[in-house]
Amino acid sequence: MTQRSVLQSVLLLVVGAAVGALLAIELRAQPTAPAVPATAAVDLKALEADVVRLKSLVPPNAHIMMDVQWHWTNLWYAAQAKNWPLAQYQFNETRGHILWLIKKSPTMKSSGPEKEEVNIEGIFQGIDTSSLNDVKAAIAAKDSVKFATTYKTMLESCYSCHKSVGRPYLRPMMPTMQVQSVLNMDPEATWPQ
Ligand code: HEC
Repeated sequence: MTQRSVLQSVLLLVVGAAVGALLAIELRAQPTAPAVPATAAVDLKALEADVVRLKSLVPPNAHIMMDVQWHWTNLWYAAQAKNWPLAQYQFNETRGHILWLIKKSPTMKSSGPEKEEVNIEGIFQGIDTSSLNDVKAAIAAKDSVKFATTYKTMLESCYSCHKSVGRPYLRPMMPTMQVQSVLNMDPEATWPQ
């Protein structure tokens, strides 16, 4: 081996060792990538908290039903006054709130002795296409007589749902008192303009 080639070999060794050492340092310096980035983990936690908070803000079923009875009662008096656009509005609100209840709790635990799961979505589908739809038709036809009979039949359907969820004590009846005092039911009212 010439002196030169010995020098070359030594140099190669030194360079190789240096590159190796550098690589090792580099590799050690690289943080191991976490499965979930730190920022995403924080977001997930916030999201979880938001879901809990939003769930706590959803009104209970009894509250939604209080709205149903409010609109349903107003519907009766709007129709008595032959205020058909207002009746239509109250009908839509009634139906919309029942749908809200179902969206929130499509199935519900009966409060009866069996505590069985009840599919109230299915129950309402039957009502929506029969007794509730008949009320809608009577309003559209502005037919007071038909309205009165369909309204009463629908009350029986309201009750059928209450019974199926083990609450037979929630027995509806024909409204006896107008509860709405700030909306004028009179379709001929002239004030305010
Ligand atoms: C698809 C099922 C379903 C239908 C249809 C339904 N309800 Fe209900 N209603 C319920 C359930 C469930 C409750 C009990 C909620 C609870 O216990 O938290 C209830 C409760 C009520 C309450 C008691 C609210 C309270 O806490 O004082 C009234 C009033 C009421 N409903 C009126 C009506 C009227 C009027 C109709 C018909 C226009 C109707 N409901 C149709 C399911 C239904």
